[in-house]
Amino acid sequence: MSVILLQTVGSFSAMHPFQCVLRARRCLRRGPLASVSWLLLRTCRAHSSVPSSACPSPQRQQEDGVWKDFSSRLATGPTFQDFLRSASVPPEQPSSSEVEDPPPYLTVDELLGRQRRVYLETYGCQMNVNDTEIAWSILQKSGYLRTSNLQEADVILLVTCSIREKAEQTIWNRLHQLKSLKSKRLRSRVPLRIGILGCMAERLKEEILNREKMVDILAGPDAYRDLPQLLAVAESGQQAANVLLSLDETYADVMPVQTSPSATSAFVSIMRGCDNMCSYCIVPFTRGRERSRPVASILEEVRKLSEQGLKEVTLLGQNVNSFRDNSEVQFNNAVSTNLSRGFSTNYKAKQGGLRFAHLLDQVSRIDPEMRIRFTSPHPKDFPDEVLQLIRERDNICKQIHLPAQSGSSRVLEAMRRGYSREAYVELIHHIRESIPGVSLSSDFIAGFCGETEEDHLQTVSLLREVQYNIGFLFAYSMRQKTRAYHRLKDDIPEEVKLRRLEELITVFREEATKANKSFVGCTQLVLVEGPSKRSAADLCGRNDGNLKVIFADAEMEDATDSRLRVRAQPGDYVLVKEMWQSLNSANPGSMGGVSLR
Ligand code: 5AD
Ligand code: SF4
Repeated sequence: MSVILLQTVGSFSAMHPFQCVLRARRCLRRGPLASVSWLLLRTCRAHSSVPSSACPSPQRQQEDGVWKDFSSRLATGPTFQDFLRSASVPPEQPSSSEVEDPPPYLTVDELLGRQRRVYLETYGCQMNVNDTEIAWSILQKSGYLRTSNLQEADVILLVTCSIREKAEQTIWNRLHQLKSLKSKRLRSRVPLRIGILGCMAERLKEEILNREKMVDILAGPDAYRDLPQLLAVAESGQQAANVLLSLDETYADVMPVQTSPSATSAFVSIMRGCDNMCSYCIVPFTRGRERSRPVASILEEVRKLSEQGLKEVTLLGQNVNSFRDNSEVQFNNAVSTNLSRGFSTNYKAKQGGLRFAHLLDQVSRIDPEMRIRFTSPHPKDFPDEVLQLIRERDNICKQIHLPAQSGSSRVLEAMRRGYSREAYVELIHHIRESIPGVSLSSDFIAGFCGETEEDHLQTVSLLREVQYNIGFLFAYSMRQKTRAYHRLKDDIPEEVKLRRLEELITVFREEATKANKSFVGCTQLVLVEGPSKRSAADLCGRNDGNLKVIFADAEMEDATDSRLRVRAQPGDYVLVKEMWQSLNSANPGSMGGVSLR
């Protein structure tokens, strides 16, 4: 079996990634698909050590390739059958003008989905949920249909996560199940195609294709536009991959498809990638360099969501508050903003561009009834103008995620987080003074390289000191390629990591229970999401601080007309009084309440 692999030239390559794709395509033009085997993009680079015959320069191709190129195109070009097939394309298929120009080795017809049914499965973070919608938007335009029934699928795509070993293991296990589904496929149906998208495709590349021969396509996080092409190549029984990382792909023009028509909230991706290079983190290697989407395209998307009646948007990015739109020259004259006090970066200071405060201001003005949240930020990028805006604007939720990772300055230094415990605690105080009643959440890692018992106790004491409302806690998982992998020793035994993690979880729950007590007896504005999972007689929604609130689905007074009695619907705001804490101590972020209106 042959493979077309448009391989990354490294996330920090000086070569513009789109140039790389074009060059790869020029190489592909040289011969029929069946003869292309592991076409490594690397071999196409001008300074490659590979002999020039392996991939001649574009100039040489031009000199001696014109005739060969033409004859090979003839040999591999569309047949009479292809013309017949394209003549009988059903009317609901997208027109060829809607489909992107095909590369020289494919016809427009081959790029069409031909009503194949795609089943998409998402793992990992919210960025992946959003990426799933982007991937689907691209495939839908190409004439694919979506199915939520695995048995009915012609194409199964897994949008994957690499952040911890466990996340990857789940996906390997899933692949084994899908393998048997593929092998049992009836001959009367089109062959089942399986694709790995996202971080795991980026991180493991060849390993996936070699280990799992049943995987047909790989697409890294910046390669979703190529999905129709990759699937078209897979149609001929070959494996196809594009794991190029980009310096500027933001999918700004791809409007994600809202999968749930009754949804009250949506995620809007505003930037991709990360330049921080925390020593434990694989993200900069799987998702590449930081780049922001132009403000205008974000505002347009939020406006559309508001027109559709959505009541909440969460601005998304790996490093959401490092947002910097440099898409127009005049943006470089924008006033510069500062880092949070006592914080530093692992990269050279960047200048100019429209920053997060500007974006937040603009987004929050679109619809005063639309709640605005953002995740996930880095504590270094909270200048006063961002905090002031959160305080002043009613529709920006008073909720901040402030990933600490550790309470020990020594460990924070080894993690290359760019702050000490003291600077972090000072920022917490400053945020609480600036935004009274703010709800805080954080991420922590237990058992990082060299973490002593004393370091661990420092984290315990930070949890006690801050009393977060919501927390995400993980055991450290060593990831190849990271700085910690190269420079530090993963020396904390697994059982110690897990014991420390358990301790952190216990302390977090105790403190969150205390913190969330402040809501008991209060009246809260809750955005209704839908029926509660626990009881059909209850509704579920979230307060401004993002805590889940469950209350009886009863008739209540309409806020606009007190004579009317109504039942709350998803997307309604309801005043919930007499909040009480959920009896479920495992989830101190869940509250009960009685609706007022
Ligand atoms: N091991 C454990 N947790 C990690 N995170 C990131 N990388 C790792 C790793 N190698 C956690 C951090 C981050 C969150 C998204 O995942 O806490 O904030
Ligand atoms: Fe990973 Fe650090 Fe970037 Fe977050 S900020 S994605 S933890 S490198």
